[in-house]
Amino acid sequence: MSLVITANAGETRKVGRTLGDSLKPGDVLAITGPLGAGKTVFAQGVAESLDIREAVTSPTYTIISEYEGRMPLYHMDLYRLGTPDEFTWLGVEEMLNGNGISLIEWSEKAGEELPERTISVRIEIEADDGRIITIIRPEEAAA
Ligand SMILES: Nc1ncnc2c1ncn2[C@@H]1O[C@H](COP(=O)(O)OP(=O)(O)OP(=O)(O)O)[C@@H](O)[C@H]1O
Ligand SMILES: [Mg+2]
Repeated sequence: MSLVITANAGETRKVGRTLGDSLKPGDVLAITGPLGAGKTVFAQGVAESLDIREAVTSPTYTIISEYEGRMPLYHMDLYRLGTPDEFTWLGVEEMLNGNGISLIEWSEKAGEELPERTISVRIEIEADDGRIITIIRPEEAAA
C-alpha cells in the first residue's frame, strides 16, 4: 500500500503520472473517491505517462473514451451506471483483457466485475485542496 498526500491538482496529476510509469499492458486501475476528489486529474497524469496528447476529460456521458498513446488508454466513468451487470453489458471484456490500460472512475459501480489484478486507487478529500491518495496493488490486498 502506498499513501500520498497532495496539496493541489498538479501534485495529484504527478502521482498519476508516476503510477502510470509503472504500468504494463493489461493493467486495470479502479479509482474511487467522491465527486470532485480528483479522479479525472489523476487520470490525466496517467495519460501523460502514456504519452497521450489529446486532452483527457471525464467521460461521464459517454461512459468510455479511448485514447491512443504508447499503450491505449480506456478511460471509463461509471457514475451513471445502474447495476454491476450493466458494466459487463458495455462489452468491456475486450478492453480489460487487452493490451491497453483500463482506468475506471467510480469503479465501485462495477461491483465484483473487475479482474483480480486490479490496482485500486482511493482519493479522499482533506479540506479544500488536500487529498489523501491510497494505492493498493492486488498482491498486497491478498496479503
Ligand atoms: N490536491 C488536489 N488533487 C486533485 N484535484 C484537486 C486538488 N485540490 C483541488 N483540486 C481540484 O478538485 C477538482 C477535481 O476534479 P476532478 O474532475 O478530477 O474530480 P473527479 O473525482 O474526477 O470528479 P467526478 O466524480 O465528477 O468525475 C479540480 O477542480 C481540481 O482542480
Ligand atoms: Mg471525473
